[in-house]
Amino acid sequence: MADIDRFSDQAATWDDDPTHVNRASSVAAVMRGVLPLRDDMHALEIGAGTGLLARALADDLGTVVVTDGAPGMVQAATATLDDPAYDGWEARLYDIEHDPLPDERFDLVMGQLALHHMGDVATVVRRCAELLRPGGRIALVDLDRDPHGDFHATVHDFHGHDGFTRDDMRRWLETAGFTDIAMTDAGAVTKQVDGGERDFPMFLATGQVPG
Ligand SMILES: C[S@@+](CC[C@H](N)C(=O)[O-])C[C@H]1O[C@@H](n2cnc3c(N)ncnc32)[C@H](O)[C@@H]1O
Repeated sequence: MADIDRFSDQAATWDDDPTHVNRASSVAAVMRGVLPLRDDMHALEIGAGTGLLARALADDLGTVVVTDGAPGMVQAATATLDDPAYDGWEARLYDIEHDPLPDERFDLVMGQLALHHMGDVATVVRRCAELLRPGGRIALVDLDRDPHGDFHATVHDFHGHDGFTRDDMRRWLETAGFTDIAMTDAGAVTKQVDGGERDFPMFLATGQVPG
């Protein structure tokens, strides 16, 4: 089963898993400490799933377009955004790697644990840069390099990346034209591996396009 189909199947119960909810909330706290967030910002979340990260930042941002490539996730996100707290927000089916770029531009493009499911990450980072207004910022959270592929060892037919080195992330951001690049520790995903619990660290990669 392709990654996207698997995520569509998991969408209806995604928010029932407290680890998903708690992760979004702790990553949001790291982002608050690093980024100058403002409540008039228009943001885009890529590979957003049900939009947990965007919703954890609801008090820090103005409006968010919550996007994902899995129809089931977008359906679930649409339902969660049906609340006055998310006035002006929208959920959209959007594949950041392959779909045409929209005309709309954003103050912030963010993503959490989505990049490692994509193919050509350098291209995705460049497309994120193109979606930003002058002076806009990127904030991508993902897994640090997992050299033996332990994180996805039990995921049958996994086609993504076993995390990333921070040097590679930095290089992709530089090539895409970002400045003020920083890599920040963003906590860890705890997972059962070989009968024991293991922490898989995450980074938050941030940068800014010229103003
Ligand atoms: C591990 S889930 C993370 C979901 C959400 N960001 C979270 O942390 O709860 C990865 C998400 O990336 C999405 N995804 C994978 N490839 C994508 C692509 N090319 N464009 C948009 N979304 C994609 C999947 O559908 C899935 O919802």
